[in-house]
Amino acid sequence: MNAWELMRARHAVRSYVNHPIEAEKVAALQQAIEDVNREAGLHIQLFTEEPEAFNANAAHYGQFSGCRNYLAMVGPKDADEAIGYYGEKLVLLAQELGLNTCWVALTFRKNAVTVDIAPEEKLHVVIALGYGETQGVQHKSKAASAVSNLSDSSPQWFRDGVEAALLAPTAINQQKFSFTQNGRRVKARTKLTFYGRMDLGIAKYHFELGAGKENFDWA
Ligand SMILES: Cc1cc2nc3c(=O)[nH]c(=O)nc-3n(C[C@H](O)[C@H](O)[C@H](O)COP(=O)(O)O)c2cc1C
Repeated sequence: MNAWELMRARHAVRSYVNHPIEAEKVAALQQAIEDVNREAGLHIQLFTEEPEAFNANAAHYGQFSGCRNYLAMVGPKDADEAIGYYGEKLVLLAQELGLNTCWVALTFRKNAVTVDIAPEEKLHVVIALGYGETQGVQHKSKAASAVSNLSDSSPQWFRDGVEAALLAPTAINQQKFSFTQNGRRVKARTKLTFYGRMDLGIAKYHFELGAGKENFDWA
């Protein structure tokens, strides 16, 4: 699958079947996590076959059921945007491996898991992953014109970047990001909301995939 297919196929999935992630897929995820942690100074950790965080042995926990695998998104306290950007990179890798995912800020039992957190770090969010009961559904989206200065004269790469950003997951589907293009320069902004900066990091990762990094510079 190419990047567009992966972005279009990814949806939040909250119900998982009891099928362990195969060792070679775990190894691929571990390798990618190691690379991301080194590149971005993050401390992301993968937990597999760990039923406590989502109370996987109960019928339901909040909106979740059967989730036994997740990424603990640990990093410096102010790293929200990087957590979003690099977390979405791992989400799309999971999608490529045939797994489903859901970003989770609230619905997990923080105290039930033993995550390694250094004094200057925090556990920002987790990303549930595994084999979904379904593939999820496409979220409702704002219009491109509502989140950008797109016009008839905008270059195609900008149009594509905004379209890709609108496929990105955001907390409660708020899509409070915006992109402003001026020549090669693109300014990305977010409203000051809960998880706004993390959502912005996620959306910027999608924007780059859609627009092509070679076509523009972040302002
Ligand atoms: C930073 C962040 C936090 C989220 N927190 C939760 C959560 O606590 N519980 C939940 O059920 N979904 C959570 N979600 C999933 C969003 O509701 C979902 O991504 C959004 O509705 C868009 O749907 P989609 O992922 O299918 O495109 C979160 C998503 C993001 C990006």
